[in-house]
Formats: sequence, structure tokens, C-alpha cells
Amino acid sequence: MLAVIGGSGLSNLTNLERLGQRVVRTPYGEPSGVLTFGRLGCEEIVFIARHGYGHTIAPHQINYRANLWALKHVGVTRVIAVASVGGIAPHLPPGTLVVPHQIIDYTWGRVCTFYDGPDDPVVHIDFTQPFTPSLRTALLQAATECQEPVVDGAVYACTQGPRLETAAEIERLARDGAELVGMTLMPEAVLAREIGLEYAALNVVANWAAGRGDAKERIAFDALERELERAIGRAKRILEAFCHL
Ligand code: HPA
Repeated sequence: MLAVIGGSGLSNLTNLERLGQRVVRTPYGEPSGVLTFGRLGCEEIVFIARHGYGHTIAPHQINYRANLWALKHVGVTRVIAVASVGGIAPHLPPGTLVVPHQIIDYTWGRVCTFYDGPDDPVVHIDFTQPFTPSLRTALLQAATECQEPVVDGAVYACTQGPRLETAAEIERLARDGAELVGMTLMPEAVLAREIGLEYAALNVVANWAAGRGDAKERIAFDALERELERAIGRAKRILEAFCHL
């Protein structure tokens, strides 16, 4: 079964035919909210809003372990993570949809493993490819099927937040090779790998990162709202096409 983890701007899937909801308790505490079961296209999927349904949980406070454990528990095998980002690279302006292929993790202090119990052996999971290649390919194919342009591949930098970055920090991320910046794909991606879930991301560029494009002085989210809404509508169409593959 497929799960969609919805980020900012995607706290529900309007094209989802709802079948029910389920509260899942986990050994790691509370997930961000109930799991919503529904039909998208012909497939039954599960949806969870990463920041909670009222968008009240900040990126560093999300219980990533509980979310992924809950999805695994109800029979999910594949996860598509939708997450909004800032565009760093010149070819990734607001409104662009991207399927990233790499991650650089700048977060700190987040619980980032399932293998930290007192009796657990130390496990060093392979993370060379942080996203599941076959799931990325399928997501790109879905975009092609519904004729929605998406960019294939980008290096995603995960910052701690919840504040946005300084212009100098974005310069540094760019020197490191980052092309997008967001706050939520880590530790989500590594926890998915640890628990045995296929995982790929669909990023929605919501704004120019600090100091880039027209964000030289400040980031003006308000001006971009309509653009973001349109991009999220396109992301929903891709998810529906994915279920028809
Ligand atoms: N920085 C970090 N995370 C983000 C941004 C940004 O500019 N936009 C959306 N998520």
C-alpha cells in the first residue's frame, strides 16, 4: 500500500475518496495525526499530514519515528513525501516541482534512528541513495503520464528551522552543492530506510531561498501563495496518475 505524507499546503488530498480514519498508537509516541484511508485513482492509499491537520507541529518537533512506524504498522510499503522547499539553484524557481535524488543533512538534535534502544545492536544503514531509485522512477513516470513538468534530480539540504536561513547560510549550502532547501525530509528519509519502507519525495518550490532570485532583501511568501496553490494542485494530479500506473 502507498502512503502520502503531506507537507505545508497539503494537509488533505481533495481528490481522495475517503474510506475512513484510524488512530494508531506507537511505541514511539503520537504520530502527527490520524491516518486517513482513501481511494486515489484505483488504489487504496493512506494519508498523513506531517505538521498535523491544523498545521501546528514545527519541523523539529515532528515525531518522525511515530509517523513512519504507524504507516508500516497499517501495511504501507511505499511512501511519497510531499514537502515544500526554497529554490537555491537558478533553474528551480517558485512553482517548480522536483523529485530530488540526494540529501545533505544540516539538522541537529532530532531523534534520527530506530536503533537506539539499550539492547539494540548498533546498525549503520546504507544511505548512499537516500531515495528509493525505483520509486523515484515511478513518480517521474506518473508526471510524464499526466504531462506535468517535473525536474528529475536535485540535492536537497535539510535545515533545522523553524526559522528560514540567512543569505550567507544559503550561499554556504550552494557551495556545498545544495539546490533546494527544506526542513523535513530528515530524519524522515533515513527512518523510512531503517524500517524498510520505500521512500521518494516530491518537492514543491514555494519561494526563492534567502538571497536568491527576488529574495535579495526578504522572502515574500504572501506574493507566492497563488503560485504555490497551483503547484500543489499539479502535485495532486501527479499522485493520482501514480495510482493509475
Ligand atoms: N528554507 C527552508 N525550508 C523551506 C523554505 C526555505 O526557504 N521554503 C519552504 N521550506
